Amino acid sequence: MKERIVQRFQAGAKTYEQSADIQRQVAANLSKHLPTISPKRILEIGCGTGIFSQYLVSLYPQARLNLLDISSAMVQICQQRFSSYPQIQVSCCDIELFQADEKFDLIVSNMTLHWLQDNLYKMDFLKNLLNQGGGLFFSILGENSFLEWKQICQDLQVEDGLLRFPSLASLRGYYPQWRFTEENIIYCYHSAYAFLHSFKQLGTQTSRIGYQPMTLSRLRQVIRHFDAQSFESIKMTYHVLYGNYCHI
Ligand SMILES: C[S@@+](CC[C@H](N)C(=O)[O-])C[C@H]1O[C@@H](n2cnc3c(N)ncnc32)[C@H](O)[C@@H]1O
Repeated sequence: MKERIVQRFQAGAKTYEQSADIQRQVAANLSKHLPTISPKRILEIGCGTGIFSQYLVSLYPQARLNLLDISSAMVQICQQRFSSYPQIQVSCCDIELFQADEKFDLIVSNMTLHWLQDNLYKMDFLKNLLNQGGGLFFSILGENSFLEWKQICQDLQVEDGLLRFPSLASLRGYYPQWRFTEENIIYCYHSAYAFLHSFKQLGTQTSRIGYQPMTLSRLRQVIRHFDAQSFESIKMTYHVLYGNYCHI
């Protein structure tokens, strides 16, 4: 599964920013949750091309930044973006295998940790990477994301293939000391095809384990059905969960 996730992000790296409107919007929202104190050392998990990292550079110009991503193609673009910043180090690494030489004052992640799937419930190891008083701030997709696509698939009795995202209640249950908030962002695509195509451009089209892809004719049927529901554009829900933990 992880290999497939990496392959897709490798393929999507060059087109990622063309379709990353939601990621940009969530990055802006997440940045408003960040502390105003000045952390000395920051870790960003899943930096991608550096959309959220840009906020870190602006907010904390004095900090040393470790940006990491599992996709070397993403890392390459991010390295180019910040090549003139000596305080920024970008590395290719799976966060689940990451070994730090020092602890961090701030760990952040935008729209990435849901890719850990069930291991999302094993994020306690991140606490060990934090200095005392340090904070973890992240955004991920929640269970109500893509409700409209799921509904159309249900109407036509086909499997939707989407990853299953966590509920706010389940995260609160697993991490009682962490704080969570949620938000629904409704994004408009000019067609169902445009929605699916954005997954490809972002590299986020990896489907759930065990999913049998639908045939092309079935897929066309789903797309037609979706487009027929609306005159101008189709609406898609992005259910975003924001998490925060302070290590005391
Ligand atoms: C949707 S992108 C978000 C990128 C960036 N944070 C942004 O806001 O634009 C998710 C990123 O997480 C990375 N990723 C997925 N699983 C990862 C893992 N286990 N360790 C590190 N990075 C991972 C992917 O390669 C991809 O670049």
